[in-house]
Amino acid sequence: MSGSTPTSAPGLPDSVGILGAGRAGTSLARALARIPRLAPGTDAPRVLMAATRPPAALRHHLGIYAPEAEAMRPDQLAADTQLTVIAVPREDLDEIEVPDLVGPRTLGVVDLTNSWGGYGLPDDVTSFLPDVAGGSRPGDDTLAVAAWLRDRGVTVPVLRAFFDISHHDLDSAGRAEEPLRALAVGSDHGGEQARAALALLVAAMGYAPVQFTGLGRAAVVEPEGPGFGGEHTADELRHLLDTASSHLGW
Ligand SMILES: NC(=O)c1ccc[n+]([C@@H]2O[C@H](COP(=O)([O-])OP(=O)(O)OC[C@H]3O[C@@H](n4cnc5c(N)ncnc54)[C@H](OP(=O)(O)O)[C@@H]3O)[C@@H](O)[C@H]2O)c1
Repeated sequence: MSGSTPTSAPGLPDSVGILGAGRAGTSLARALARIPRLAPGTDAPRVLMAATRPPAALRHHLGIYAPEAEAMRPDQLAADTQLTVIAVPREDLDEIEVPDLVGPRTLGVVDLTNSWGGYGLPDDVTSFLPDVAGGSRPGDDTLAVAAWLRDRGVTVPVLRAFFDISHHDLDSAGRAEEPLRALAVGSDHGGEQARAALALLVAAMGYAPVQFTGLGRAAVVEPEGPGFGGEHTADELRHLLDTASSHLGW
């Protein structure tokens, strides 16, 4: 890495599109903008954001809450970005245009959403819940979202990240030095390469990424999971994810 010239680290995504500019989406944009301070010599990725409101109205909002981010229409978000993050309420997922999430450079689509506060999946997504004897299990909603995205045309890996930290913490918990708070970064088998790129981004943001395979495991740190809301070290989070099946009663 050259001394005074900021640059993207090899493998670090150079651009992120975020669909949803509410609490989670704008705090993620701010956290990405802090990368040059937390990882000196590294450029922040370009951040593009879209919401239901038109770009002109969104631009005004971002000027206040995430000034480095660029306002776009949803159909422009993935045209030239390497990751697309879904940061809309789960109950509104059926209103997004899934094909817009993937463009020619997209490595993966990151699901940041949670089932939360009594709101769950829209009917369109519910039909993708795994059919498991004995009823629903923790993590099934997350599996259904991924299956629904694939069915609707997402051909790149579906990833899971930033769901296990509140927007408040995302604004303040990134650190340049140990001890680092751990964040989970997941994919299914086959998504390892995209997941590794996302993990580099999480590390540049001042967190310790803990990678896991099997999106349903995320439930240990989702709302109602045993590790939800905790500020885990990497070892603690790795243990939670490794032992997810016993914690979750699978
Ligand atoms: N808040 C947190 O601390 C946190 C932490 C982790 C995960 N999450 C998860 O993140 C998701 C978003 O939560 P939030 O708290 O950020 O919600 P929020 O503050 O209500 O923001 C929702 C955003 O989604 C946008 N949106 C809704 N439907 C859309 C559509 N069809 N197309 C494009 N944009 C759409 C809204 O657009 P407008 O701005 O135009 O209305 C708004 O910007 C939820 O699933 C939540 O569980 C939240």
